[in-house]
Amino acid sequence: MEQMNAKKLSSVDVRMQNLTKIFVDKTGKETRAVDDFTVTIPAGKLIGLLGPSGCGKSTTLYMIAGLHKPTAGQIFFGEEDVTFMPPEKRGIGLVFQNYALYPHMTVLQNIMFPLENLNVPKQEALQRAHEMAELVHIGELMERKPAQLSGGQQQRVAIARALVKKPRVLLLDEPLSNLDARLRLQTREEIKRIQRETGITTIFVTHDQEEAMSISDEIVVMNFGLEQQKDKPQHVYDEPQNMFVAKFLGNPPINIIEGVIENNVLKMINGYELESIKADNQEVYIGIRPEFFETKENGKIKGVIDLVEHIGRDTMALFQVEGYQEPLRAIVFADRNLAPNQVIHFDYNKIFVFNKETGARIK
Ligand SMILES: Nc1ncnc2c1ncn2[C@@H]1O[C@H](COP(=O)(O)OP(=O)(O)OP(=O)(O)O)[C@@H](O)[C@H]1O
Ligand SMILES: [Mg+2]
Repeated sequence: MEQMNAKKLSSVDVRMQNLTKIFVDKTGKETRAVDDFTVTIPAGKLIGLLGPSGCGKSTTLYMIAGLHKPTAGQIFFGEEDVTFMPPEKRGIGLVFQNYALYPHMTVLQNIMFPLENLNVPKQEALQRAHEMAELVHIGELMERKPAQLSGGQQQRVAIARALVKKPRVLLLDEPLSNLDARLRLQTREEIKRIQRETGITTIFVTHDQEEAMSISDEIVVMNFGLEQQKDKPQHVYDEPQNMFVAKFLGNPPINIIEGVIENNVLKMINGYELESIKADNQEVYIGIRPEFFETKENGKIKGVIDLVEHIGRDTMALFQVEGYQEPLRAIVFADRNLAPNQVIHFDYNKIFVFNKETGARIK
């Protein structure tokens, strides 16, 4: 127990207030990489920052690290305003996708390197490096050079090097994307364990929704530099605030189909009436996750089976519905004898409805 406590780092919350970054290129063209971003990362938690390529994740991280200067807005670590504090004063540990280890140095020298600049006495530096190496389970590799390590081991060295300074905040920018599927899984569990043991406030950037959902205490979903939603992963999945979030989370993806609300009735564009709904007349998108469908005699949605796929534990039926171009996807019971061209009826146990223009959730 005592040893656990020795590993605990003092953690702070990270608060971003109206944070904005506009890049201007040579021709004067502006890119709003981060747009009026206001989010609090709670102390001691692991937060997944999630969004498609180019949505501003790295830019956000680099502003927290102090490598990019915000165009507007502020960053606080606890009560301290760090917006214009130089990176080396902030107390951050940063890990990139491409480990960036020094190839000519041993693992031990790599881990100790940040302490040299801080004038930590040699003996203490050695001890701290060994502690960190134990923490990330590479204690027996200290004399090797990076080229003699696997990708996952190199990544753990990079994490040890980021933690050896006892930072207040750990920033990880797609740290797993160079690893193969098995190592990715292993390393992400390792990161979760290290984060728990140290209690360090951690921001984990990824565009992989499954990765973010599996290790984060909370996720922040971003698009076009804007925060879309922040909450516990399961809650964001179950109750997406808008269509972007609903589509971004979930594999296989949610079915999105055109529909309409007329006189308080939600209808599909082929005329199928789904349910009554209290909302103004409008065109909508209807979202149904594959697991929301239930096969049912006389179900409201009639389809014709296109294809039955077995994916791991699940059996997926792709079915065509009159009036719609794209087939819909439903998870069905494996013991159902479903075959192409068969007519099938579905009901659903849950449904999302979004305004067609804004994507805002109506139900
Ligand atoms: N130094 C820069 N100069 C100009 N534009 C930039 C610069 N860095 C990033 N951008 C632009 O800002 C936007 C956000 O980029 P950022 O790297 O933050 O995205 P990201 O979410 O990390 O994407 P990815 O998942 O691909 O890493 C993009 O449109 C990008 O082209
Ligand atoms: Mg990036």
